Amino acid sequence: MELRFIIVRNMGFRRLTLYFVLLISVGKLHCDEHTHTYKDNEEVVLWMNTVGPYHNRQETYSYYSLPYCQGPKEVIGHYHETLGEALQGFELEYSGLSIDFKSDTPPTVFCEIELNEEKLKAFVYAVKNRYWYQMFVDDLPIWGVVGEPDDTKGEYYVYSHKKFDLAFNGNQIVDVNMTTEGKVLLTVGAKIPFSYEVHWKSSKTKFENRFDKYLDPNFFQHRIHWFSIFNSFMMVIFLVGLVSMILMRTLRKDYARYAKDEEMDDMDRDLGDEYGWKQVHGDVFRPAAKPLLFSALLGTGCQLLVVTVAVILFTILGELYTERGSLLSTAIFVYAATSPINGYFGASIYAQMGGKRWIRQMLCSVALLPAVVCGTSFFINFIAIYYHASRAIPFGSMVAVACIVLFVVLPLTLVGTVLGRNLAGQADYPCRVNAVPRPIPEKKWYMEPAIIVSLGGVLPFGSIFIEMYFIFTSFWAYKIYYVYGFMLLVFLILLVVTICVTIVCTYFLLNAEDYRWQWTSFFAAASTSGYVYLYSIYYFIFKTNGWLWNTVSKLPFLFFGKLHGPLFALD
Ligand SMILES: *[C@@H]1O[C@H](CO)[C@@H](O)[C@H](O)[C@H]1NC(C)=O
Repeated sequence: MELRFIIVRNMGFRRLTLYFVLLISVGKLHCDEHTHTYKDNEEVVLWMNTVGPYHNRQETYSYYSLPYCQGPKEVIGHYHETLGEALQGFELEYSGLSIDFKSDTPPTVFCEIELNEEKLKAFVYAVKNRYWYQMFVDDLPIWGVVGEPDDTKGEYYVYSHKKFDLAFNGNQIVDVNMTTEGKVLLTVGAKIPFSYEVHWKSSKTKFENRFDKYLDPNFFQHRIHWFSIFNSFMMVIFLVGLVSMILMRTLRKDYARYAKDEEMDDMDRDLGDEYGWKQVHGDVFRPAAKPLLFSALLGTGCQLLVVTVAVILFTILGELYTERGSLLSTAIFVYAATSPINGYFGASIYAQMGGKRWIRQMLCSVALLPAVVCGTSFFINFIAIYYHASRAIPFGSMVAVACIVLFVVLPLTLVGTVLGRNLAGQADYPCRVNAVPRPIPEKKWYMEPAIIVSLGGVLPFGSIFIEMYFIFTSFWAYKIYYVYGFMLLVFLILLVVTICVTIVCTYFLLNAEDYRWQWTSFFAAASTSGYVYLYSIYYFIFKTNGWLWNTVSKLPFLFFGKLHGPLFALD
């Protein structure tokens, strides 16, 4: 309902998303940077974000962890940080440089530092490791290198002058370039004056298109990408055809066989030449082992399905990738808002399995995903704190997340749980469950649940791994992932493939007269994530230092060698 409303009101979408983001944002908010309109001579804030090595986008530190100095202007007009930004490790700090809308600033020295041993070491390390920093003006990212090494002489230079070229269209900022100049040799005792200048010009670029220059269609809309999606699509058609054909034919054959058996007298049947899935009819509806955990997992899965589709749609409609952290904020909001789904499906399955400890089941549902996600991020957090990286999540954000879980997710899940137990808690099975579980006969090794599970993930993974390549690349390299339409398509393909695969797996298992199909079917689909995990390790080892370093690292030398400008202006 909500989604339809938003699609109809496409025009007002941005504003709407904004309210969502505002709803769960912490800190003070002000309007300029959100409306993106300025009056003449109005303050335009230059935010310093993070600094880090070029070959690892995920390793970032606060800009002022290098001994840079701040501009003289101390009063910050406004500061905002949304929850999404805080969690993603954005660490915006005011630069102290005054930039006024449409008014040029001549070259101005804003501060000076004198290098002592310690500061020198910090700068040399940064230059040696090709550190570069990120800044934001009106939500437009700017990148610049810290300095330039001259490895033959063993000398290191730092850039001391920043030249900003901004372009406006009407009362909005549509383009920004930064050039770094003023190489200063790093030596003990050197005095480095840091300076900046600002030039404004008028531009015909439309505000909606201002992010286009950061995108890399040659990479993301490469023939291979289209081809892989086409490929997966053909696989889906093939697989659906195969599954329906196999099931139709085999099931018809099975039915014919069972029908013939019916005609035989009881004597023959007792001789026992019946075999196959019909033998387990008295056991298939036996509750799964650990029904509490099983129903919590299924409930969370149903919710995640809705969250994923909704967030991808939001991103496509609202172009969320242009706003820092808003993707994560939206995801958190959608997750909180869709908790009744979790409660409903989890509780109804639990009740159908005859579970009685529904409060415990609900708490398990509520805590499952947040616990896993928070546990992982706390672990990363410890590492980040140890290295003083900007990834470290501020305490306030942790409290905010805890509050969302306690005061939004928990009550909503309770509502869903009560509804689920009362509306869909009655099991409606076509046959009774036998009092005594049937022994599971010996079977071929490839019919063992463990083998079925590990093979089950191969096809779903095969349909998404090219997309994973693009996602990993945008995660590690400085590329903005923006082809969310592709992502949606691939996600739907993944769904269909997974459904087909689990149906086939369940058929094989039941045919081998093993009735423990619930967990097997669940893990047959879930093993896809295991393959994705292995692939991410492979990517990290073989691509981030090899491919990434060899190809992407040529880019900065191409123009940082001659100097300077935005990375993504390059073709
Ligand atoms: C930024 O650089 C690009 C490419 O060199 C150029 O087309 C554009 O006009 C520049 N923008 C500004 C504001 O100077």
